[in-house]
Amino acid sequence: MDSANPTQRPVTPDSSSGKSARDGWAAVLTAATLWGTTGIVFHALGTSGGANAVSISFLRLALSVPFLLVMARIRVGTWLAPLTMRGFLVLIGLGLGMAAYQLTYVLAIERVGVAISVLISICGAPIFVALISVVWLGERLQAQTLVALVTAIVGTVLLVGLPTEVNQNSHGFWIGVAIAIACAVCQAFYVLAARASGSVCGPMHAGGIGFAIGALALLPFGLVEGLQLSYSPGGWAMLLYVAAVPTAIAQTLFLSGLKGTGAIGGAIASLLEPLVSTVLAVILLHEHMTWVGVLGTVILLSGIVIIQWTPKKTSQARGDILPCTDAYHDGTHTMTFYQRHIFFCTNRRENGDACDHHGATELCAYAKRRFAEAAPHLAGQIRVNRAGCLSQCEYGPTVVIYPEAVWYTYIDTKDIDEIVDEHLVNGRIVQRLRIDSPN
Ligand code: FES
Repeated sequence: MDSANPTQRPVTPDSSSGKSARDGWAAVLTAATLWGTTGIVFHALGTSGGANAVSISFLRLALSVPFLLVMARIRVGTWLAPLTMRGFLVLIGLGLGMAAYQLTYVLAIERVGVAISVLISICGAPIFVALISVVWLGERLQAQTLVALVTAIVGTVLLVGLPTEVNQNSHGFWIGVAIAIACAVCQAFYVLAARASGSVCGPMHAGGIGFAIGALALLPFGLVEGLQLSYSPGGWAMLLYVAAVPTAIAQTLFLSGLKGTGAIGGAIASLLEPLVSTVLAVILLHEHMTWVGVLGTVILLSGIVIIQWTPKKTSQARGDILPCTDAYHDGTHTMTFYQRHIFFCTNRRENGDACDHHGATELCAYAKRRFAEAAPHLAGQIRVNRAGCLSQCEYGPTVVIYPEAVWYTYIDTKDIDEIVDEHLVNGRIVQRLRIDSPN
């Protein structure tokens, strides 16, 4: 971390601890694999940017919403999540980013064809995520990230292949290129909004609310184009598959995995999508993959491996949390069952002077729900428990988080949200709530 700017964080996957990072990579790579099945279904539906492409994009988002909300109801227990104004704005950005990405993709294909649109939009997205992260969010791009980014993009270009016939003088060619670049920017904003949604609500709620907003944004364009709602039973089955699997399930995995991979890592991992599409086309449509394509595959996979590689840490910046194996493996302490363990004092006394009289039991239950919603990918790794008196009664309602042994007090759900989101999920100490501040 740059000592001149303590808020500046490196754009690197190693800011997450080992297991959550591994789970994050598994989630985003599975999501990208599921996305890769979309192309073959759209091919069967008879569209790859054709007249009904906007209709299908609208239906894809609209039909995914009930799937996401039912998943949230089953997994988290609520249909919708309570949102602050900031949280609502993040989800608006998520939905509009997805809608704009879908729309510009269709418009780009109409003007410059599939090959150029795919190359610019898919390869451009991780570049813009990195640029926005560095220029706008003040993050540092580490050499490992840069090497992985360049490697993965070179591999993708070789895999997808450069178009053999490009008519730069054709009507609207450069407008089409500009729209394809805009498509990449929209996708980058979607990824960054998806990353930000991790501190707003759980991935199923974020996807459900965000995609409802995205579907509403696409509806006017679908109506102008002539919304196509007449499909064969097989066509509806394929639409439901796309809504449920490569949209609802894949987006849930992607949103939850981004916490472990970071935005730039997630964007690079999503380059697996064209590879899966290509492999499915070779297997199911008997398309031919050239040796250049095979070389591109190897290079692309190398980029994805590079971005996941975690160098051995030798030091930790002040304010960051060490993974428990580093933080607590000093020869006298070992903590292996959970990455973090938070204890809520829920003690009661007859004289009314104990933590439970400040709502500790209810807020402990709230913290469990909030954590399950915010980080389902960390289930089993972080534990929330009730405890008896922790002997810090004079500070008010008390919690302690191990292995860092950081003590907090709290007043309401807002404080609990911050402890869960910042400390339990992101590993950052909430200084303002500490009762054992070193200062
Ligand atoms: S009653 Fe909660 S710390 Fe003592």
